[in-house]
Amino acid sequence: MPAYKLISFRSLRMALRFVLPLAFALTLLAYAVVPLVDKLTLRWFVRDLDIRSRLITDTLQEPLEDLLVLGEKGKINSLLTRAIKDERLLALGYCSPEGTLQYRTANFPDSLSCSPPRNPAGKTKHLLRLSRGLVHIAYDPLDNEQGLTGSLLVIHDMSFVERRSTDTRNYVILLFAVLGIVTSLITVFVAHLSWRGWMEGVRAMLRGEGLVKPFSNPANSELQPLVGDLRGLLRSLDAERRLADDATITWSPESLRGLLHKQLAGERVIVVSNREPYIHINTPDGIIVNRPASGLVTAVEPVMRACSGTWIAHGGGSADRETVDRHDRVGVPPGHADYTLRRIWLSAEEEAGYYYGFANEGLWPLCHNAHVRPVFRSSNWAQYVAVNQRFAEAVVKEADSDDPVVLVQDYHFALLPGMIRKQLPKATIITFWHIPWPNPESFGICPWREELLKGLLGSTILGFHTPFHCKNFLETVDRYLETRIEQESSTIFHRGKLTLVESYPISIQWPPPWQATQATVDECRLSVRRSLGVNPDHLLGLGVDRLDYTKGILERLRAVENMLERHPSMIGHFTFVQIAAPSRSALEEYQAFDARVRALAERINQRFSDGAYQPVCLKVEHHEPEDVNRYYRATDVCMVTSLHDGMNLVAKEFVAARDDERGALVLSQFTGAAHELHEALIVNPYHIEQTADALYHALTMPLFEQQERMRSMRSLVRDFNVYRWAGRMLIDAARIRQREKLSARIGRPV
Ligand code: F6P
Repeated sequence: MPAYKLISFRSLRMALRFVLPLAFALTLLAYAVVPLVDKLTLRWFVRDLDIRSRLITDTLQEPLEDLLVLGEKGKINSLLTRAIKDERLLALGYCSPEGTLQYRTANFPDSLSCSPPRNPAGKTKHLLRLSRGLVHIAYDPLDNEQGLTGSLLVIHDMSFVERRSTDTRNYVILLFAVLGIVTSLITVFVAHLSWRGWMEGVRAMLRGEGLVKPFSNPANSELQPLVGDLRGLLRSLDAERRLADDATITWSPESLRGLLHKQLAGERVIVVSNREPYIHINTPDGIIVNRPASGLVTAVEPVMRACSGTWIAHGGGSADRETVDRHDRVGVPPGHADYTLRRIWLSAEEEAGYYYGFANEGLWPLCHNAHVRPVFRSSNWAQYVAVNQRFAEAVVKEADSDDPVVLVQDYHFALLPGMIRKQLPKATIITFWHIPWPNPESFGICPWREELLKGLLGSTILGFHTPFHCKNFLETVDRYLETRIEQESSTIFHRGKLTLVESYPISIQWPPPWQATQATVDECRLSVRRSLGVNPDHLLGLGVDRLDYTKGILERLRAVENMLERHPSMIGHFTFVQIAAPSRSALEEYQAFDARVRALAERINQRFSDGAYQPVCLKVEHHEPEDVNRYYRATDVCMVTSLHDGMNLVAKEFVAARDDERGALVLSQFTGAAHELHEALIVNPYHIEQTADALYHALTMPLFEQQERMRSMRSLVRDFNVYRWAGRMLIDAARIRQREKLSARIGRPV
C-alpha cells in the first residue's frame, strides 16, 4: 500500500476514534442531560413563583380586606385588574372563606375553581397545562387576627419558562455540535500531521539519523520524550544481540567463515594495508619469502586465511614483481593459496613522501606520546593524497559488487575510506586504526587535520583498540568538524552518513599456528641457551620489537642495568636478549635511535661483562615468526615496555607461546594490552627502578605464581582471539548493512 494511503487511512482511523465517542456524548446530552436540566430549571422557577405569589398576596391582602369589608365590588375588581398588569401574572381570583369564587380577573381560566386540583397521590398540583399553555397556581390563604378571610388564587403564565428551556436546549445542542465538528476537524488535522511526524521520526531513527535529528528539529519535538526510550530500547536490543552472539560463539577460523556466510551473504572481503603479509626477496640462493615484523600482519593474516578474498598492499620486496601474475596478483600463503595478494607498486618518490614522510615522520609521532616531534611537509601530504587515491582505485577494481566489505588498515590510509565511499557509496568500510589516537590538542597541530578526519568518516565503522582512543577521536571530531555526535551510541553523523566509532581490542590467532609442530619448551630453552653460549639454567629475559623509539627499548635496557646494579648476584647468571627488527631505517630519527640502542647495549655489556659473559644480547635483524616463538618458549621473562602503544601483540604472542604455563610478563601500563592482561607485572617504563624491580620479581617469581598468572592470561587470549576481533567488527557491519537496507525499503535511501 502506498505510504500516503497508509497515512490517510491511519489519520482517519485516529479521528474516528475521537468522533464516535463525541457523537455518543452528544446523544446522551440531548436525551438525558437536557431533560434533567429542564426539570431542575422548572423546579427553581416553581419555587420562585411560589415566593412571588406569596409576595403578591401579601401586598394585596390589606387593601383587598378593607374593600371586602366595605363591599366595594367595583374597586375590588379594579384592584385585581391593576395587579395583573405584570406581564407574567396571568390572572387573580378571590375565594370566600366558604370556598366560592367571588371575584376573578377577565382571563381567569374557566376550568379553575376554589378547590385546588390534585394529583393521583392527593397532593395539590401547582402546575397545570391549560389550552393556553402551562400555568402556575398558588392558593394563598388570607388570614388576620380575626381569622381566615378567604384566599387568593394567583395564576402565573409559565410559557416563558418553556420558551426559555427550549431556547437553552437548542443553544446547548448547537454549541456542542459546533464544538464537536471543530474538534473533529482539528483532531483529523493534528492526527495526520502527527502521524507523518512519527513516521518520519521512526524512519529517521531506523536510518540512524533519528539518533540526533529529532533534537535538532523543532518540528519533531513531540518525539523527543520518546526518542530516548526508543533509542535506548534499540541499543539494548543491539547490545543484547551482540553479547549473545559473542557469548555463544567459540571464535575460530570456521566460526568466522560461518559468520561471513550467514551475516554478510558470503562476501569476499578486501583488505587494504601498506605492509604486505608475504614479501618476496631476492637472495644469492634464490627468491625467499619473508613475513614482516608487524602486529597488523600478525593479526589480519589469519583472518584473511579464514575469510579469503583480496589483500591489497604495497609490494616492497625485491622479488615482488617477479612473483605476481599480469594483474599484479599472487596467491598466498605460498604453496597453499587461501587468498589473493594484490600488489601496488610505488615509486621511490611516492614511498618517500607517503610512507616515510607523511605516515612515519608525521602521523606516527603525532599519535604516539614518545616525545618525538612530528614533521609535516606539503610535498609529503601531496604524495599521501595521491597514494591513497591509487589504493582507492585498486579497491574499486578488485570489488566484484557495488557494496563490497572493505577492511582498511591503519594510519597510512586515513583518506582512503572517504575516497572509496565516493566511488562505491554502498560499500561497507571497516577502518581499523592500529595505533593510539591522541587528544584534540595534540592532533590539532596537523595542518591537514580536517581532511584526515573527513576521510576517516567515510568509514561505516572506525575501530580503535581501547575506549579511550575512541573517546579521543570523538572529541577531536567534535573540536574540528561540523558533525552531529551521539556520545551514547558512539556514532558520528557527517554529510548524510553515519560512522560507528567502537573499540575492538586486537588479538592473535588461537591456537598459535605452530602449536602442532613446535619444539618442546625444554628443547627451546636448551637450543636458545646453547646458541647464546650459556648454561641450561641461565636466566633469560626477552624483548621483541621493531627498532622503534616508541617501544621503550632504551628504558628497558636501563632497567636491566639498574637491576644488575642492585642485584649483583644476577651478574653472570642473567642475560637479556633484545630482538630488534630493523624498521624505517631510511629516517634519521630511526637511524639515531638505532645508534643509541646499540651504544647503550654496548655500555652495559662493557660494564658487566666478565670473560665470555655479556648481559645484553642485541639482535638487530629480521627473525621469522617461528624463530621468535622459539625465544618466547625459552625465556624466563618477556619485557614489553612501550612508551605508548595501541595494543602490542608481542605481549599476547608470548602468553600464547607458553603452553607450559611458565614464564613472567613485564608489561608497560601505556600499552593497550595492559587493559586486558592484568596478571602481568604492570610497570611505568619511564620509572627505571620500578621496571628493574619488576624484572627482578619476574626472575625470582615462584613457580605456582607464574602458573596462576599465565593460566589466567592464556584463557583471556584464547577467548578474545583475533577471530573474535574480526568477528565483532563483521557482526556490527552486518547489523549496519541490515539497518541501511531496511531504511532504504521503508523510506528514502540513506
Ligand atoms: O603499529 C602500527 C603498525 O602499522 C603495526 O600495525 C605494524 O606492526 C607496524 O606499524 C609496522 O610498521 P611498518 O609497516 O612501518 O614496518
